[in-house]
Amino acid sequence: MRTIDWVDDHIELIDQTKLPGELVIRKVTTLDDLIDDIQRLAVRGAPALGVAGAMGVALIAQGNPDRATLESEAQRLANARPTAVNLSWGVKKTMEKADGGFPALLEEALKIRDDDIASCYSMGQYGADLMDELLDTDTYRIMTICNTGGLACVERGTALGVIQTLFERGKLEEALPVETRPLLQGARLTAWELTNMGAPFRLICDSAGPFLLSRGAAQAVFIGADRIAANGDSANKIGSFSLSLGAKAAGIPFIVVAPESTIDYSTATGADIPIEDRGSEEVANFHGVRTAPEGTQAINPAFDVTPTSNITAIVTDRRVIRVDRGETPQTTPLGEIRAK
Ligand code: MRU
Repeated sequence: MRTIDWVDDHIELIDQTKLPGELVIRKVTTLDDLIDDIQRLAVRGAPALGVAGAMGVALIAQGNPDRATLESEAQRLANARPTAVNLSWGVKKTMEKADGGFPALLEEALKIRDDDIASCYSMGQYGADLMDELLDTDTYRIMTICNTGGLACVERGTALGVIQTLFERGKLEEALPVETRPLLQGARLTAWELTNMGAPFRLICDSAGPFLLSRGAAQAVFIGADRIAANGDSANKIGSFSLSLGAKAAGIPFIVVAPESTIDYSTATGADIPIEDRGSEEVANFHGVRTAPEGTQAINPAFDVTPTSNITAIVTDRRVIRVDRGETPQTTPLGEIRAK
């Protein structure tokens, strides 16, 4: 099943706010609804946001707006969430075909969807091979954060896609997803995907992650990314930075997995990456239940930035960037997209 797709004349997407309780497919026919779905995380995860951006442009164009309206509405879509560069990348890449009207824009959006699927298989191959290169054991225990699986892409996933490839190769001893407060993407979504896969896993609290790494619970940490700066600093779900410190203290690899579209060469370092703050209510409530006193103010950054000094490697669909050897996205040549 695809997380997001174009069906007839509209977008269909899995409403991720309803998982794991219910599998609900939403029909999205207007830009306002798509922006709302992005902002309330019905559709989420950097690559899926890239596809949502691309298909959103097709949705706008279908209404036959004049060029100025198409451009301003596309910009409104690109601004729906600030950190994952894939959203604005998907909008911008699709808008390059604007002269061809709706048919050309839809064709480009569908190509972005298909490329995303292929890139996930490729990252799985590069990432699983890297584990064999880095570690001298038959099976692996891997810690991960947030949801970087098929739900964060169109199918399959980035960091969780590597874990799936290891599982399919008979090399996954155990996955250890952290719950991922405040919205529990690890517990609600990653645990759901691992269950459906039939892969061995145990769920852990966010705060247990670094301690468990210090006790040898995992041999590596794999995370996704929402934006990778030109120097390799990587923004991902809040809690990634703590895991990178834990991995560094434990002396184990910390690996970022993301498609090339997540690399933002116009952002020099992690300090320049905009970090979304999602406000107090998400922290002070959960699923409609108040968990902190009325009026509690919270700081709620949705993402953090892991500096290159804590990263072993960045795995993309076209290469492995050995950050631990001083390589950066700017210095490492592109390779081939690898097949399943
Ligand atoms: O706020 P979210 O759920 O959109 O955050 C998603 C993440 O942080 C993912 O790890 C990232 O987008 C990579 S997804 C393959």
